[in-house]
Amino acid sequence: MRFLAPFLLALGAARPAFAVVVKSGSTCIVTPGAATRAMRSIGLVPPAERDVDPDSSSSGDEQNIWSDLDPEAGAPKPGAPGSLGHYPRPMPSKKGGASPPSALEMSFPRRRAATAAADDTPQILDAFKQCGKDGTIIFQEGTYNIRQVMNTTDLRNVSIEIHGTFVWSADNIQYWLSHSYSVTYAGRSTAWLLGGRDISMRGFGRALFDGNGQVWIDQNRNAGNQNGRPISLTIWRANNVFIDGIRWKMAQFWHTFVAHSQNITMTNLEMNTSSNSQWKAVNTDGTDTWNSKDIVIRNWTVTCHDDCISIKGNSSNVHVSNVTCYESGAMCVGSIGSNAGQPDFVENVVFENVSLYHSSNAAWIKTYPGTGYVRNVTFRNIHFENVNQPIYVTSCIYSYQNCDNSRLGITDIHWENITGTSRYNVAAAIHCSSRAPCDDLHFSNIDIKPMSGGTAKVLCSNIKNQASSGLACTGPCPGSQPQQLSGNV
Ligand SMILES: *[C@@H]1O[C@H](CO)[C@@H](O)[C@H](O)[C@H]1NC(C)=O
Ligand SMILES: *[C@@H]1O[C@H](CO)[C@@H](O)[C@H](O)[C@H]1NC(C)=O
Ligand SMILES: *[C@@H]1O[C@H](CO)[C@@H](O)[C@H](O)[C@H]1NC(C)=O
Ligand SMILES: *[C@@H]1O[C@H](CO)[C@@H](O)[C@H](O)[C@H]1NC(C)=O
Ligand SMILES: *[C@@H]1O[C@H](CO)[C@@H](O)[C@H](O)[C@H]1NC(C)=O
Ligand SMILES: *[C@@H]1O[C@H](CO)[C@@H](O)[C@H](O)[C@H]1NC(C)=O
Ligand SMILES: *[C@@H]1O[C@H](CO)[C@@H](O)[C@H](O)[C@H]1NC(C)=O
Ligand SMILES: *[C@@H]1O[C@H](CO)[C@@H](O)[C@H](O)[C@H]1NC(C)=O
Ligand SMILES: *[C@@H]1O[C@H](CO)[C@@H](O)[C@H](O)[C@H]1NC(C)=O
Ligand SMILES: *[C@@H]1O[C@H](CO)[C@@H](O)[C@H](O)[C@H]1NC(C)=O
Repeated sequence: MRFLAPFLLALGAARPAFAVVVKSGSTCIVTPGAATRAMRSIGLVPPAERDVDPDSSSSGDEQNIWSDLDPEAGAPKPGAPGSLGHYPRPMPSKKGGASPPSALEMSFPRRRAATAAADDTPQILDAFKQCGKDGTIIFQEGTYNIRQVMNTTDLRNVSIEIHGTFVWSADNIQYWLSHSYSVTYAGRSTAWLLGGRDISMRGFGRALFDGNGQVWIDQNRNAGNQNGRPISLTIWRANNVFIDGIRWKMAQFWHTFVAHSQNITMTNLEMNTSSNSQWKAVNTDGTDTWNSKDIVIRNWTVTCHDDCISIKGNSSNVHVSNVTCYESGAMCVGSIGSNAGQPDFVENVVFENVSLYHSSNAAWIKTYPGTGYVRNVTFRNIHFENVNQPIYVTSCIYSYQNCDNSRLGITDIHWENITGTSRYNVAAAIHCSSRAPCDDLHFSNIDIKPMSGGTAKVLCSNIKNQASSGLACTGPCPGSQPQQLSGNV
């Protein structure tokens, strides 16, 4: 605490309105603006939650602050992330006389117009720039305002420790619509690209990502996939990433997206995006994976009003376990195969120990009439209550046309121990393409009961070796069978 005193003194009574980055050795400590409690020494971050000893290159009382407090300094150019630099200037030492240069460095924005909305993006990016390689970045408790896109894709061997709240602005929707970074997939884009290698980002159950999603929901007015509406966090061209203990509230669009990445583990996450207006939360998926492999998703609780965990094209070796989803599209492979000229492959996926409440579907596969394959997928120990149409497979999602022309094979798929209640009288509806019938489907311990009693129907079409699949089909499933029903059939 004491070593920050000169800084506080220099600022006079005013608290800094913007975050401040202090670098000590390979560690950057970021304290949010307008929060006196955040003006703490890094000693207050429990050592167990740090990867490095921040004191290793500093020496307590003797510390000195290098800072730029020039009141004449002009405002930075708005919208210039990373425009910060270091402007070292020795402060008088408490003991008088000149102090030796210290390992501590500090950077913070030059004075801005008092009317400017607080934007901590430059400081956040500065911390990533200074400590994003072989370093640690600690975001202290408090609120960080993010008004600009963030591209932190050159990280290497970094531990990111977040104790505070990141709030993405929504009073500048036009900015986001035109500046979100493309993630190429289906024209989608993102507010934050995170990539590189050997990255851990931990929130200790305290980090909160607030996307101000209600504003996005209200301006989107139930439309799907608005161009430029940003995914909250995209893991992009990354290897060896561990993300843990972060909570999302009101995401702008999908909460997370994993693309062109390998060996990504995401554990103990909570997400909740629920509209409180007449407009619905749509396209607020928990996560989507695409062109990625070796992914572990464990212990998530998600309320999202769209797909909870969605495995898209060219994903392989994905293990999802211990996930609870409310108001969602649950566990899903797809959509894939939208471009028949570009095959999509999904293989080696396990979803297990999943609980679902009030979902559209439970354990399902959705493809367009395209090319590629889905193979070796297991849905195991899935329990649910009040799911519209629990087991669902379609070869022609959304259009429900051209269903029997799909060449996208669906093979070696297991549904084991799938139990719960369906909202209507259909437990399973499976329409495979007659041109590429589903093969090697295995069902065991399927116990799905309609909420209103009676027995549930099992509708199937174009399943090879249906008799030995373990599924007792009660009738055919037309290609036009919708993803969700509005009543008994
Ligand atoms: C990773 O960075 C830490 C400093 O944060 C350093 O001590 C360690 O040697 C680095 N590891 C490798 C493999 O470079
Ligand atoms: C993100 O930054 C990297 C450099 O770190 C750059 O190569 C890449 O083009 C940037 N991406 C976007 C979308 O601007
Ligand atoms: C996968 O990433 C984790 C970090 O999440 C790392 O500890 C592990 O060594 C990586 N595995 C491989 C095979 O690189
Ligand atoms: C699972 O995640 C919740 C937060 O959603 C956390 O409280 C709990 O400790 C986690 N369980 C394990 C075993 O990490
Ligand atoms: C999600 O948020 C909504 C609205 O704030 C709330 O009603 C609901 O209980 C939350 N869900 C969970 C699982 O916390
Ligand atoms: C599984 O989820 C439950 C309920 O959220 C949680 O209490 C438990 O810690 C989780 N276990 C693991 C291994 O993540
Ligand atoms: C999937 O991977 C295949 C083969 O690597 C590639 O041809 C195809 O373009 C990829 N599909 C997508 C949608 O990226
Ligand atoms: C099927 O996927 C599981 C889980 O990823 C994997 O362990 C198994 O080896 C795969 N089987 C085949 C035949 O590839
Ligand atoms: C899933 O649950 C079963 C039964 O409770 C347990 O034996 C298994 O270890 C769990 N799997 C995972 C990956 O947590
Ligand atoms: C079936 O799944 C439930 C959770 O839905 C689990 O409690 C039970 O142990 C599983 N049964 C078997 C035989 O694995």
